[in-house]
Amino acid sequence: MIGIKVVTSLGFKLKQIKGSKELDVFDCHFSNLLGLAAGLDKNGDYIDNLASLGFGFLEIGTVTPKPQYGNKKPRLFRDIPSKAIINRMGFNNKGVDHLVNKLKKRRSDIPIGVSIGKNADTPNNLAHADYLYCLDRVFKYADYVAINISSPNTQGLREFEIKDELANLIQALKERQLELTNEHGYKPLFLKISPDNDDRGIEDICGALLRFSVDGLICTNTTINHNHISGSGGLSGKPLLGPSTETLRIARKILGDEFPIIASGGVMSKEDYLQKIDAGADLVQIYTGFIFEGPKLIDDILNQ
Ligand SMILES: Cc1cc2nc3c(=O)[nH]c(=O)nc-3n(C[C@H](O)[C@H](O)[C@H](O)COP(=O)(O)O)c2cc1C
Repeated sequence: MIGIKVVTSLGFKLKQIKGSKELDVFDCHFSNLLGLAAGLDKNGDYIDNLASLGFGFLEIGTVTPKPQYGNKKPRLFRDIPSKAIINRMGFNNKGVDHLVNKLKKRRSDIPIGVSIGKNADTPNNLAHADYLYCLDRVFKYADYVAINISSPNTQGLREFEIKDELANLIQALKERQLELTNEHGYKPLFLKISPDNDDRGIEDICGALLRFSVDGLICTNTTINHNHISGSGGLSGKPLLGPSTETLRIARKILGDEFPIIASGGVMSKEDYLQKIDAGADLVQIYTGFIFEGPKLIDDILNQ
């Protein structure tokens, strides 16, 4: 059955043809609903190569104003029996200017989201300036911008998921988004959240999204709820599927049918992908599944 839903606000639109494999969001055409999650191409170094694998969109970054090394190694661990990854990378990246140069040179026209964050040595009371700095620089070249406040590997970052801190940050970013729109056209802002909020926390976040007209939600980042032998860090992959899908279901219920949601977390197979769509995702991302299964997973999900 084919249905079309259209939402208009501030000149953007969302139009989905249910049951089809294509999607138009905010005047941006997604040839399929499967994307690469943030953190694999942190610097935009591999855009054309990744696009050629068949993804419908890519999210690059997370990028920060200044280049930074991230946490000391070892900081990335695979747990093969449980099909999980534990990472405490800490936003290692070459800085936003490098990423923008890569975006300028790309040949593929695949939709690209750019994930932005703050440098590790920026205190939280100055974090707004880091996000605004990155937003200014990537806005012209991104199809959407993802606000990453949910990495567990930058000290204190998840404090921005708390009500007042979140409201202040979002308000500043929305104001700047509208200023930048005059020059570059409308670019949606998505907020990426953790799977570790309780129901009340998810309600608060969704309330802020609606109150400040944030354009979309990414559900979810990695979880800190594990006691893996490798120590602290965010866990992704198969064990994350349940908690991240639960967050997605709750958020969808609060936000309503029309609110754009990208699902991320634990998609290791076509079945998992369909579970995300069933829970209310408009678009779905993979990372750990791509590491374990390779590019074949893209074909399995889209063509089998
Ligand atoms: C090594 C690694 C690095 C990551 N870096 C980022 C990042 O920089 N920004 C971000 O928003 N998410 C980052 N993530 C989280 C992923 O984008 C994704 O949300 C998470 O891994 C859950 O999806 P998955 O189970 O398919 O991997 C990272 C994940 C991994 C495994």
